[in-house]
Amino acid sequence: MASPTQVLVQTAPKPSRTTVKALVESDGFKSIPSNYSYATHPNESDASNPNNTIPTIDFSLLTSGDPHQRSKVIQDIDKSCQEWGFFMLVNHGVPESLMKAVLNGCNDFFNLPMEEKLEFATKDIWKPIRFGTGVDIKVEKFFFWRDFIKVFAHPEFNCPSKPQGFSEIVQEYCKRSREVTMELLKAISESLGFEESYIEKAMNLKSGFQLFAANLYPPCPQPELAMGIPAHTDHGLLTLLIENEIGGLQIQHNGTWFHVNPLPNSFLVNTGDHLEILSNGRYKSIMHRAVVNNKSTRISIAAPNGPSLNTVVSPAPELVDNESRPAAYMPMKYKDYIDLQLEGKPCLERVRLPVS
Ligand code: OGA
Ligand code: NI
Repeated sequence: MASPTQVLVQTAPKPSRTTVKALVESDGFKSIPSNYSYATHPNESDASNPNNTIPTIDFSLLTSGDPHQRSKVIQDIDKSCQEWGFFMLVNHGVPESLMKAVLNGCNDFFNLPMEEKLEFATKDIWKPIRFGTGVDIKVEKFFFWRDFIKVFAHPEFNCPSKPQGFSEIVQEYCKRSREVTMELLKAISESLGFEESYIEKAMNLKSGFQLFAANLYPPCPQPELAMGIPAHTDHGLLTLLIENEIGGLQIQHNGTWFHVNPLPNSFLVNTGDHLEILSNGRYKSIMHRAVVNNKSTRISIAAPNGPSLNTVVSPAPELVDNESRPAAYMPMKYKDYIDLQLEGKPCLERVRLPVS
């Protein structure tokens, strides 16, 4: 990895008034400003491995009505969540046309005039509509190669009213992807040894918190120097992600980074911090990141689904045994946990209890 000093330094843009998109489209733009240069952390080596062993789950077998097939898929989900915290979901029933439409809608949103997007620019993570560019609010030291729009989609649905028709498409997409998530969480309740409505009841999913987060990664002339989203885990229970067929997502498995090349029309599903906590560590919240490229604009949409914001999440009591399996995490309200993310360190470390 080249050192940041090799970057040709341009004047740094004011983060609150510009976007990565505007930077890329500006006259004479050739190299990245030094503050976008992300010196890779020692534990963030390059990804090299092929993706051929990433688990795939056929959703239709969960809902086919055949109990034998269902229990087989539940076993596969259990294995995927334990070993990877990640799987590709196929035959999920969400129409390909809707997935394409929502990606196109996000592209149209990012193409709006700057002022219309900056109307939603805020550092306040509790604003139900938030537009941003890649400043890491935790360190304010380097910028990431990403613009984003995040909206709170459940229990109340929010969305910018422009471009025309965007809100309707996002709403339909959020509804359908949430239904898929609820079905997966029934299967995961069973894979943890509970009845299928366990997680729904324990996490108050009827008023569960769903975010819709669309990311734009414009082409970057020096992709090896920049980072789209650095290594992180997601809060919540499960995140469903789709992208416009331009790769960039990488996941960490047994200490190695893997490129993910999604099957067409699949959902990329990853476990979140609150599934790790609820399962008392049986399912680990997976580390992932997004790298950038110098050819095409990538758009991804992440939809994390979590408990209701007022739910206090702790390891399921049935999975705790003071002798053999003590609680590995302390209880915390989901909302307070999200607030903790502002303070820097990975939050899971803050709630993890010392094992005696
Ligand atoms: C996220 C995320 C990855 C991607 O938005 O939390 O991990 O591929 N995105 O864009
Ligand atoms: Ni993520």
